[in-house]
Amino acid sequence: MPKPLPALLHVEVWRGTDTGRFQTFDVPRREHQTILDVVTEIQRTQDATLAYRFACRVGMCGSCAMTVNGRPRWTCRTRVSDVVGRKARIRLEPLRNFTVVKDLAVEMTRFFDKWRDAKGSFESDRQSDQDFAVVPPGSRERQAADAGIECIGCGICYSACDVVAWDPGYLGPAALNRAWTLLNDVRDKANDARIDAVAGGSGCHACHTHMSCTAFCPKSLAPTYAISGLKRAVTARALGRTR
Ligand code: SF4
Ligand code: SF4
Ligand code: FES
Repeated sequence: MPKPLPALLHVEVWRGTDTGRFQTFDVPRREHQTILDVVTEIQRTQDATLAYRFACRVGMCGSCAMTVNGRPRWTCRTRVSDVVGRKARIRLEPLRNFTVVKDLAVEMTRFFDKWRDAKGSFESDRQSDQDFAVVPPGSRERQAADAGIECIGCGICYSACDVVAWDPGYLGPAALNRAWTLLNDVRDKANDARIDAVAGGSGCHACHTHMSCTAFCPKSLAPTYAISGLKRAVTARALGRTR
């Protein structure tokens, strides 16, 4: 007979900003409960002042990420049982490498500013009266772009990255993954500026290929490989070659 689930979860929750303390709440253990369910139950039944963020609850918006027992996770798609098994202790903290707004909610502005700095927006010279561009699904560029396109901007890779912790100016895995996706989009016309943007001291060459970003990405993307592609592109341009 498997051991019965404990009746209560003991949940330590960070309260405060960059300074603060852990506060413990006891929450009923339920089958199929997610970490986000636990946080929501605390906020609705025990302390309405607890700050956290979520929107979709189905793994699409990227807003619910937190540090759960030391590891960054999307909390709406993370079951309690996947984290603690049949044990009862959970520790919840805000994502690392972000400024804490309050409790479990972090400030994302700098993270998304880096997408802008990495030229992470699509630029085209096509006119609205032109027909849709045809990009064969089997082409090398299309496959490279598709491999990174499903990013939900959750910040988990950024939170897991040691280089971001050491160098707050580093563009980081999500912004660089976005730049690589656009670099492979044959409709985009901003690649010279994009390569300039990612080639600097806080760009792709700062990555030490430790792969934490890739290990933790909840969408199974591989920013490390995207960054390797950017390094090759920067080198190729310096040598006057096409990729
Ligand atoms: S592989 Fe690069 S971007 Fe990813 S976590 Fe390591 S240093 Fe950061
Ligand atoms: S690359 Fe993955 S971990 Fe990073 S922001 Fe996108 S979805 Fe989240
Ligand atoms: S609430 Fe949207 S991804 Fe979790």
